[in-house]
Amino acid sequence: MKALVLREAGKIELTEIPKPVVTAGKVLVKIKAAGLNRRDDWIREGKYPNIKFGVTMGSDGAGVVEAVGDEKDQPWVGKEVVINPNIDWGSDPEVQSGKYTILGMPVDGTFAEYISVPVDRLHHKPFHLDFLQAAALPLGGLTAFRALFRRGELRAGQNVLISGFGGGVAQFAFLFAQAAGANVYVSSGSDEKIDKALKLGAKGAYNYKKQPTYPELWKTKGGFDLVIDSAGGDQINNFIKVLKPKGKIVFYGATNGLPAKLDMYRMFWNQLSLLGSTMGNDNEFSEMLTFVSKHQIRPLIDSIRPFSKIVESYPDITRPNKAGKIVFQV
Ligand SMILES: NC(=O)c1ccc[n+]([C@@H]2O[C@H](COP(=O)([O-])OP(=O)(O)OC[C@H]3O[C@@H](n4cnc5c(N)ncnc54)[C@H](OP(=O)(O)O)[C@@H]3O)[C@@H](O)[C@H]2O)c1
Repeated sequence: MKALVLREAGKIELTEIPKPVVTAGKVLVKIKAAGLNRRDDWIREGKYPNIKFGVTMGSDGAGVVEAVGDEKDQPWVGKEVVINPNIDWGSDPEVQSGKYTILGMPVDGTFAEYISVPVDRLHHKPFHLDFLQAAALPLGGLTAFRALFRRGELRAGQNVLISGFGGGVAQFAFLFAQAAGANVYVSSGSDEKIDKALKLGAKGAYNYKKQPTYPELWKTKGGFDLVIDSAGGDQINNFIKVLKPKGKIVFYGATNGLPAKLDMYRMFWNQLSLLGSTMGNDNEFSEMLTFVSKHQIRPLIDSIRPFSKIVESYPDITRPNKAGKIVFQV
């Protein structure tokens, strides 16, 4: 079968490897669609913990169950599924275990025609989504869901700023926050994406490349209850300035690196919280899928490409005009 394999740091190859043999407790899924994440590119570059060469990459996938290792799992055969990319979250819902990993490194992932996964990683594909839309969901949807609702404790009527609307995770944060009845504001480095967010119902939007961030945000009535960010860097101090007292910043990435300084004075005086968030536990994955079905949420897809173009598609994950997820038809 065809699979995308990491050969060495900086070198990925679409190649032929043996089809996985299904064993006890596992199922064989024929992948129909797979989604690209920023994580896949960090791994390609070798900038990720526990890198192993020869591994099939990819965290996001949806497909059809073709075979099962145990007789009792026979009812899954032929079912349309989406795969939970968590491996060994562990028993504490608040934090992952020391054994925690994500599908696609160091465990073989979804960028292949077939994948063998434990049966408890399967979830029924949301009925209203096709395979391509479902494959856009797992990693980004889970990260956004936990960041907003568990860590950020977002409630209807609150003001939330989603920083970097064009990001694969940020778009889910935007869609989920809207569905939850929050007043959603966005930032983006692109006017086109700002227009798109406003058309989708954002209450306000600003271009972080053009406008002086702080005064623009300050116009937001009463400030923000919550900011969701993955860019990091010095702008965190602007977020601190525009939070309401007892507001929260939840961050799940630091693409632009660390801040040179942190306005701790304002943080302690205004009872602010700065919270890290990573992925989400298995219950949150189920809850996220239920939420997506209940609100009929459809992921924002940047582009759909044939699997044969996956190697040349990787650089596009950092393309500034990308908006939403890049998805492959396998
Ligand atoms: N901890 C976790 O569990 C977890 C999970 C998923 C991702 N991550 C990390 O989170 C980061 C984002 O992931 P992703 O998959 O969403 O990546 P992505 O699709 O590549 O999105 C990155 C987005 O960051 C935005 N951005 C860049 N500079 C910015 C700035 N100065 N201010 C605000 N936004 C800025 C851009 O938004 P615009 O295009 O709108 O300008 C860009 O689209 C990555 O570092 C990734 O590794 C962590």
